Amino acid sequence: YLSAKAKVFVAPAMDLDMYRHPSTARNLDTLRADGVTLIEPAEGYLASGLTGKGRMEEPEEIVKVIEAWMDASASLKGKKILVTAGPTHENIDPVRFIGNYSSGKMGYALAGECAARGAEVCLVSGPVSLPVPDGDIRRIEVTSAAEMHAACLREFPGMDAAIMCAAVADYAPAVCSDSKIKRETTGEITLRLVPNPDIAASLGAIKTPEQKLIGFALETDNEHANALSKLRRKNLDFIVLNSLRDPLAGFGKDTNKVTVIAATGEEKSFPAKSKTLVAADIIDFTL
Ligand code: PMT
Repeated sequence: YLSAKAKVFVAPAMDLDMYRHPSTARNLDTLRADGVTLIEPAEGYLASGLTGKGRMEEPEEIVKVIEAWMDASASLKGKKILVTAGPTHENIDPVRFIGNYSSGKMGYALAGECAARGAEVCLVSGPVSLPVPDGDIRRIEVTSAAEMHAACLREFPGMDAAIMCAAVADYAPAVCSDSKIKRETTGEITLRLVPNPDIAASLGAIKTPEQKLIGFALETDNEHANALSKLRRKNLDFIVLNSLRDPLAGFGKDTNKVTVIAATGEEKSFPAKSKTLVAADIIDFTL
């Protein structure tokens, strides 16, 4: 199991008291958090002679669950999806930059989940230290917001959807020094910052009615109102809200807790889950 790369299903079978035991519940929760799909045991006559919940589900029912998963796993076959991930770095000089704490985990989980469902993925990634997930994923590595903007404008016209998960720097130094700024000769310095292009808004301005555009909103306060305002301002179809006030959400964590809001007004909040499972929830709701 530990070295299995395929999707894993577990259909537990045990006596009713063992199934009810808190340690079993904890272990099943751990498996679920790791992305395993549990096929709940049925109620009925058990090998011990007792009757209750613990009978392995009927093989025909197990096959149905797996078939349903296989149908869903091909749900994005033939689709082309652009995903942005990670931070951008805005250079001050050859050794320093302005950046943020994005690790790329959320964006890479989205790219991996889209590919697992059969999509052809273009992953435009800022500087992160993550491997490309398995599947049909073409990674374009960029450093700055300007480079990410150029790559997204080039790739978006051929796409069915774009998921803008990158934490793009809103400002860049107006001037990048060609040589290392020296403390001894420069003394106190003032950095003049100029706004970067808004990549999601640029795609929102050119998207066709067939293309879906999904943005993220990372907030620290007034979360819902700010997310709604970004959804409208950038002409998105959906926005995924995560808050830095939530201890299980945000930069670098293995988990996230999101609310997805549609331009139609529909919205859904999900509990904290691993970023892989959050990616699956986002894709189920939006694509
Ligand atoms: O990478 P991890 O460590 O896993 O962390 C995940 C995450 C917290 C980075 C991710 O879940 C997330 O919230 N990503 C968006 C972060 C962000 O920049 O949010 P924002 O509210 O500032 O931007 C709103 C939207 O506009 C985002 O879709 C962003 O990609 C986009 N944007 C922002 C600025 C800009 N100049 N161009 C953009 O396209």
